[in-house]
Amino acid sequence: MGKMSKEIAGPGVEGTVQMLKKAYGAELSAFHYFWFVSQNIEGLGVLHQGFFEDRAKEELGHAKKVAFRLMQLETQPTDEPSQWEQDSGLGKLQPSRYLTLRSALEKALEFERAVIKHYNDLANNVKDKDHATYHLALELLDAELEDEQNIEDILAKLEIQ
Ligand SMILES: [Fe+2]
Repeated sequence: MGKMSKEIAGPGVEGTVQMLKKAYGAELSAFHYFWFVSQNIEGLGVLHQGFFEDRAKEELGHAKKVAFRLMQLETQPTDEPSQWEQDSGLGKLQPSRYLTLRSALEKALEFERAVIKHYNDLANNVKDKDHATYHLALELLDAELEDEQNIEDILAKLEIQ
């Protein structure tokens, strides 16, 4: 728990906490999506199993960082997995519906872009006020932008529709 951390974060801290909860839900939802896809992908997608598994591990790492910031702001991340979907704003990701390589990547691109927008909004909201959250938002924004680029690159190279 960080008293100073919360004090520094200032009067807008409740809004920041809500945005971090949304990010936490989104990261864990994305983690589960990539994990499920990595274990169940079909056809040519099997060749990219490692890519999806790496993405799953990466999203879990992001969730850990978001959770750490929430704790610093004296907020316990939810202990209820069903809350992730509700908080994330991404809806049900339903990975079992996206088990071909193209569909799995296209669906991922859809939620990665929503997450990119969210981190950009978070960065704008805390800029010049809460430097710790700002730094985290930029770091995660950067990581998600890289994911978007990598997914777009694989999609662009796919010869089979
Ligand atoms: Fe992430």
